[in-house]
Amino acid sequence: MLQLQNTDQTWLHEVIAKITNKMDLVSERSRNKIPYTVVNGVHDDRSVDNPSCLDADGICWWTNGFWGGILWLMHHETGNEKYQEIAKISEDKLDECFQQYNGLHHDVGFMWLPTSVANYKVTGNQKSKTRALHAANLLAGRFNLAGRFIRAWNDLDEGDTRGWAIVDCMFNIPLLYWASEETGDPRFKQIAMAHADTAMTAFVRPDGSVNHIVEFDPFYGGVVKTYGGQGYEDGSSWTRGQTWALYGFMMSYIHTGKEEYMHTAKRIAHYFMANIPENGVIPIDFRQPKEPAYEDSTAAAIAACGLIEIAKAVGQNEQAVYLNTALKLLRTLDESRSDWSAETDNILINGSAAYHNPNRHTAIIYGDYYFIEAIFKLKGNDLYLW
Ligand code: GLY
Repeated sequence: MLQLQNTDQTWLHEVIAKITNKMDLVSERSRNKIPYTVVNGVHDDRSVDNPSCLDADGICWWTNGFWGGILWLMHHETGNEKYQEIAKISEDKLDECFQQYNGLHHDVGFMWLPTSVANYKVTGNQKSKTRALHAANLLAGRFNLAGRFIRAWNDLDEGDTRGWAIVDCMFNIPLLYWASEETGDPRFKQIAMAHADTAMTAFVRPDGSVNHIVEFDPFYGGVVKTYGGQGYEDGSSWTRGQTWALYGFMMSYIHTGKEEYMHTAKRIAHYFMANIPENGVIPIDFRQPKEPAYEDSTAAAIAACGLIEIAKAVGQNEQAVYLNTALKLLRTLDESRSDWSAETDNILINGSAAYHNPNRHTAIIYGDYYFIEAIFKLKGNDLYLW
């Protein structure tokens, strides 16, 4: 049970009202789209701009589950049936991805947990369950037995990535936990835990920061090298990667009860909290140069979700530090990094996909998703989609 002050409760109810008012309009405007960002305030559409998996940012783009996820969260919060109707439109469109091979990689968890697993959990839809089990089998098939890791991407532009694993995968393995819980077959969970155990030693550094990419020898399994990935440089501290690990290890703890996962999440959380700037605005990388002051609102939203889950798990005596930090991050997003206008389709501004990607400080769909998830978590009756 989260202990919120009265002033925080008042603020929370105001933000929930702003979210429900805005999403009521946006869901109608974007009902046939699968958005990633906005162009002049209007959602783009990954399902028509490039309806092929040959270019990775088309229909197989890893973020294509978040729009459905937002709609399932809104359905749960409001009880309005229109949200589940619209969520199913994007879920149906994702079927095209199963016809592809190279376009689909480890991000099937990000894609089918907030869509098909959500639909199955809420409505019992058997087609959704089948889709999610197909996705889980694809993910399990990427397990490298020698290195005990789930391979990240396919060889597209990156060169030989047979030995690559990335920290983001901590959000994909809940699909494997779900598959074991659903089928009773322990293989999926065994693979998820083997990957999480490898990630604890190969990704998490002694100070609680994490690597983005670790390359293993795909034949013998040892660590070959690390890469900075979407962060500033090798050895730096890409903030969204820190949050994929922080919340990701909590997800593994929630599904398995293995205490080491929660300790790891707390270790990463303490590193993260110690690095939050006074103004509560999260940079793209904690070890980037001070100027330009590039930031990433998505990292703040994901961190808030993970911190709230830690606060719930540790109980009332210990929860204040995690809960108050989450509140600081979310209040900062609401007060200075949100667009509450009824005319635009995004909520958060200033998301950044990667430090060296010139399209910094934009709207990104998973920023909105995790902001909404965090707000509903604070209320205490959220639909847990991971
Ligand atoms: N999973 C890729 C990213 O966080 O951008």
